[in-house]
Amino acid sequence: MNNDLYAVVGHPISHSKSPRIHSLFASETGEALEYTAIQAPLDDFAGTVQQFFERGGKGLNVTVPFKEQAWRLANQRTDRAEKAGAANTLFQDDQGLLVADNTDGCGLVRDLTVNQGIRMKDARVLVLGAGGAVRGVLGPLLAEAPASLTIANRTVAKADGLVKLFADEAGGCQLAACGFEQAKGPFDLIINGTSASLQGDLPPLPATVIRDGTAVYDMMYSLQTTTFNQWALDRGANRVMDGLGMLVEQAAESFRIWRGVTPNTSAVMDELRND
Ligand code: ATR
Repeated sequence: MNNDLYAVVGHPISHSKSPRIHSLFASETGEALEYTAIQAPLDDFAGTVQQFFERGGKGLNVTVPFKEQAWRLANQRTDRAEKAGAANTLFQDDQGLLVADNTDGCGLVRDLTVNQGIRMKDARVLVLGAGGAVRGVLGPLLAEAPASLTIANRTVAKADGLVKLFADEAGGCQLAACGFEQAKGPFDLIINGTSASLQGDLPPLPATVIRDGTAVYDMMYSLQTTTFNQWALDRGANRVMDGLGMLVEQAAESFRIWRGVTPNTSAVMDELRND
């Protein structure tokens, strides 16, 4: 019998670690599957998805720049995908309808709380950025019931928009928006969800955002210390983390959705750090 087929779709895609992560999950759990990478043409994501499922494909991960398109293309969305406005996981239901989910936020929270042992409840949290990456993780972050969650962004109107969108999920958490310079702090946890470092920039934050004990999480993953984490270390942060754990945990949640089996992630993280 042929193995079930899965893939990640993006453009570009050659750098993606998803095939490696899912192959490691498959060997560890004994699940019979193949996982490949597909580069979709920028103007034909929908056609690529359709062909994949017509060929008998079982599930897709979706990455830059197609997550919003995947969300629009789906016939159904899980609640968390609905709110995220983007999808990173696609599969078909029994009737062949396309279902979209988003496992990014759950992956981030799992890495923070389970792997890193960070207590989110009652924490003062600063989230940097208000683009798709941040929108995708806000629901699961708010579900952890932090005392406050401040969204700081270069374009404050976009942070304001997210505060309005997630107001009904804030519960007792003080949800607020501001520009980088206005984020005074100190904060217990700072999460960088901007792509500023790709342009060689750093968000112009006051040094007061960091206190002794502030934990800093860059959603980007890099073999070296990320630019943002280096900035934080230079200002006294004593704990910095990058997005490798989030990457592996969001993949594990997709794997669980598709296969009904939860892989062990710690061995996979060790493997990737050693690659
Ligand atoms: P993503 O899917 O990675 O979130 P995005 O939706 O384009 O991509 O959002 C990028 C985020 O990084 C935004 O918050 C953006 O700020 P603006 O909303 O003001 O555009 C932020 N960003 C990108 N380049 C930046 C820079 N050079 N300095 C500060 N913030 C930057």
